[in-house]
Amino acid sequence: MAKITKLDDIVSLCKRRGFIFQSSEIYGGLASCYDYGPLGVELKNNVKKAWWKTVVQMRDDVVGLDCSILMHPMVWKASGHADKFADLIVECKKCNTRTRVDHLKDHCEEHTAHIAIDSALASAPELSNKVCPNCGSVGNFTEPMPFQLMFETQMGANVDDAMTMYLRPETAQGIFANFRNVLDTTRVKIPFGIAQIGKSFRNEVTTKAFIFRTREFEQAELEFFCEPGTDEEWFEHWKKCRFEWYIGLGLKKENLRFRQHDADELAHYAKSCADVEYKFPFGSGDWQELEGIANRTDYDLRQHQRGIRTMTKWYENNRDMTKIELTDEPQDYQSGPLSYFDIEKKKRYVPYVIEPSAGIDRSALAFLVDAYDEEEVRGEKRNLLRFHHALAPIKVGVFPLVKRDGMPEIARNIYEDMKKHFNCFYDEKGAIGRRYRRQDEAGTPFCITVDGQTLEDKTVTVRKRDSMEQVRVTTDSLKSFLYDKLEV
Ligand code: GLY
Repeated sequence: MAKITKLDDIVSLCKRRGFIFQSSEIYGGLASCYDYGPLGVELKNNVKKAWWKTVVQMRDDVVGLDCSILMHPMVWKASGHADKFADLIVECKKCNTRTRVDHLKDHCEEHTAHIAIDSALASAPELSNKVCPNCGSVGNFTEPMPFQLMFETQMGANVDDAMTMYLRPETAQGIFANFRNVLDTTRVKIPFGIAQIGKSFRNEVTTKAFIFRTREFEQAELEFFCEPGTDEEWFEHWKKCRFEWYIGLGLKKENLRFRQHDADELAHYAKSCADVEYKFPFGSGDWQELEGIANRTDYDLRQHQRGIRTMTKWYENNRDMTKIELTDEPQDYQSGPLSYFDIEKKKRYVPYVIEPSAGIDRSALAFLVDAYDEEEVRGEKRNLLRFHHALAPIKVGVFPLVKRDGMPEIARNIYEDMKKHFNCFYDEKGAIGRRYRRQDEAGTPFCITVDGQTLEDKTVTVRKRDSMEQVRVTTDSLKSFLYDKLEV
């Protein structure tokens, strides 16, 4: 029977096999920051590749983009992040630890979303029976206060043109800011989407569980532009597509579910949102967000139309965003600079947006957790990662059975040939059983072994990771055999 995976097993495997390391470990580590090692970077790249293939390559209605992390500060004023992207926190009067109000104990569920600050402040939370997670003191908190989640930095060396900037807290705004550019330079027609994968940054009050919630993280986001009135339909379409993507890459159905957001946890830009959640093995077996699918309406494009109109104030106030109020929206906003003209319907409007927004790091963690298995084989423990072939960091291991009789030379030749097509690993050290086990633990789906029979009939064994079954394949047909099985 498959073993129940614990997060500790995964953390230990990740460190032992070079998937994920603590950042700056030689200096004692930097909390909540992680580095992807040789196997980890392959896994993460494969998750991104699989997302891009499904969301961009396989669709006729989505194009890609790659925007800069630093953007004009007015982007964040217009998007609402400068004023509203904050967590409501309290400070414990005894130990001075700051905690998100929605993370205080006695709440039945821990939400991963950042509560819209307006609605949270409007309904003062009851704190008298809440417990400080650090020192245990009860009801001993300051008044709730907003804590800005964007990281600040400075750009420019000269006093005259230096500006306070923000590391982007979502990749989405780069897409909204380029909506006009994409319309003007491609043949896209609504409905269509713009997709992007990239780093985002949030100064989280509480980080969590290994790479699940970190302050620097990678997002895969799609902004899908559609005609108002068709948004609910597209919302359902993308919910279905995104759920199927995780299932298609091997996540077990019983570990996945949808959760609709309550009104009080919606982000400031969303009309509705549904999370794809995975049952992670931390806490008491927590359902946690992998991806949010939000109906952002026409909020962002309309806000940026206001932002563009506000630019004169930006210069008048010496580029100090904190002194600026956004200019009101004109009545004819539907024909503003970020509107869309539908030639067939002879109609101009500001499109609605459906946004599937996935966390690459937490998806990688879910794929690791779900693939992890331990079993007993002939009295010995076998650890393995049953990755979907598309996600496996190494696709093929190549071994000579022993280091003599010309076997290493033949195995090397096979390796040199196969590595042009697949990510391969050559290994001639130690007992063959141990070499298989090492590849099982890295999640390598196939191992090729050159043995005595190879010298006679030019066949090799191909061993399958999951069943450990071995079949003989001629060296001439190895490439097509693997292409067929790996479907890469
Ligand atoms: N763009 C949605 C999010 O970052 O959560």
